[in-house]
Parts: sequence; structure tokens; C-alpha cells
Amino acid sequence: MFPFQRPRRLRKNETIRRMVRETSVSPDDFIYPLFATYGKNTRKEIKSMPGCFQESADRIVKHAKEVHSLGIPAVLLFGIPEHKDEIGSGAYDPKGVVQKAVRAIKDKVPGLYVITDVCMCEYTSHGHCGFIEDGDVKNDPTLDLLAAEALSHAKAGADMVAPSDMMDGRVEAIRIALDEEGFTETPIMSYAAKYASAFYGPFREAAESTPAFGDRRSYQMDPANRREALKEVALDIDEGADIVMVKPAMSYLDIISDIRENFDLPVAAYNVSGEYSLIKAAAKLGWIDEKRAMMEVLTSIKRAGADLILTYFAKEAAKILNK
Ligand code: PBG
Repeated sequence: MFPFQRPRRLRKNETIRRMVRETSVSPDDFIYPLFATYGKNTRKEIKSMPGCFQESADRIVKHAKEVHSLGIPAVLLFGIPEHKDEIGSGAYDPKGVVQKAVRAIKDKVPGLYVITDVCMCEYTSHGHCGFIEDGDVKNDPTLDLLAAEALSHAKAGADMVAPSDMMDGRVEAIRIALDEEGFTETPIMSYAAKYASAFYGPFREAAESTPAFGDRRSYQMDPANRREALKEVALDIDEGADIVMVKPAMSYLDIISDIRENFDLPVAAYNVSGEYSLIKAAAKLGWIDEKRAMMEVLTSIKRAGADLILTYFAKEAAKILNK
């Protein structure tokens, strides 16, 4: 009798679907990005990222409490300083915006794990991720700046640092700087395979970090390259990375899957600003079911092999998952 094989038997109702489901998403998987700025009682919504804000330290603490209460274990901090200069001094200023926010969060919400993004682009007047000479981002002089930035975040109390600049050798430079000062227990999550993506557009409004000239294609990866991601990851692991990240996530699920297959470290994936804004915009126009689209995207990132997801949807997804 045809057909003996009927896969639909296991899709009959939600109970059996729940029993055979291969992938689950939990608030434990999420890292929620926050944008720290200067001033007091400041909370400015980012137009292209509805529901996301630039916040002063006092307001970030309130936000951090909310994130913690939803069962999300960690936040990732970005900084928007009051003044930017050629060498991004704000990045390693002990009184900088991120350093202040870290201290405030660790003081008031000690149970929340605080990760800091380590990069120069939010702090430089030219908006590039490093030291500029002859119109080019110079790799090796940038390493000293990044090491100083990571160290100053650790001194402020950061639980983990996450370099996102894509300079060669930065994981090792940061590891050495941290170890020399006694921060041997501070892990590094490296943005190992970070692509030169159009999907960072809304973030650059959020962080006010659009490059003043040129683009980031001489340091971030070419979206056409797959094997090169394995090389980048192998190098970062060799240099001492504890967690490796793929960024963006949605258009790079093959990369997440390759890395999962080839390495045993925890893999993180960054569901970036543009991926968030696409869904928000389509939902606003009534063209998509926002909640279902969000959960589908997060599930697919887990299915591809990510252990951790950095996402602006973390709070909304946690609310659904906690029900
Ligand atoms: C800093 C950095 C960027 C993002 C994270 N860290 C922007 C960039 O590289 O231009 C993007 C995050 C997002 O789009 O959500 N280098």
C-alpha cells in the first residue's frame, strides 16, 4: 500500500512536533547589545532600529536590570563617546563611556555577564577601525590601541572582551596585554569571521561610526569567501580566542555550519542590525508576522550550529520563550 512512509505522522499536532523537534532556542543562548553614551538620564531611540537606544550609564543600568530579569545572561556594550579624535582616545579612557557603563552595571546588576566590544571605529573621527596613515588603516600600530582598550575594559570590570576590528594578530596582542596585567581569567570572544556587510547599515547610525572615506573592505572579509573563514577561525584559536563569532548571521549560515563542523570551541553568531531592521520594517508595513519571523531566524541560526546568538531581538524572544 502506497505510501508506507508518511513523514506527516510526526507533524500531526503540537505535542508530537514538540517531541521530535531537533533545535531549541532558549534565553540562555542570547547576548543583548547595548549602546552606552555620555551624559545623564539620556535615552535616545535609534531611528533605524526601533526599540534600541543610546543610553547614559544611569539609564543603561535600568535597562540591564530588565535584561537580567528576563533571564538573558549577558550584554554586549558599545560606546558612543562625546568626542572623537584621530586615534580614538575615548576607547581606552578609564573614564570613557563603556568603562563607566561597565562599572555601573557590575555594581548594580552583578549577576549580569558584561562583554565589551573592542574596536576603534566608534571612537575615531574618521570612523575606521584603526590607526590611519596615508589613507590606509595600519595593522600593527592599531594592535597597541586595541590592547589598551581591552585592558581598560577589563580594569573597569568587564567579564569578557570581544574584538570586532578584524586586524591581524589582535587576539594575541589582547591576550598578552590582559595576562601581563593579571587578567588571565578574562575570556576573549573574537569576531573571527566578520564580513564587509551592507547589513551593518543601521548600526552605523546607532554608533555614529560610518567611515568618513572609503569602506572596510581592506580589513573585513569578502562576502564571497567561505574557506577563508576557516583560516580566520584557526588563526584566532591559535592566538588564544575562547569563543569564535560569525557575523552577520542570516546570510552566513553556511559559515556557521562549517565552523561548527571543524572546531570544538563555542560558536557565536551576530544577528546584526540590518537583519533586525528588515524584519521590523516589514512588520511595520504589515508585510510579515514579526514574532514568527524573529523566532524562525533565531531557530535557523541555532540549527546551523551556533551556541550563542547576539541579537537585538533578545528581549522580545525571551518574553515569548519564558511564557
Ligand atoms: C564595530 C562593529 C560593527 C558592528 C559590530 N561591531 C560595525 C562595523 O563593523 O561597521 C555591527 C553590528 C550590527 O550591525 O548590528 N566594528
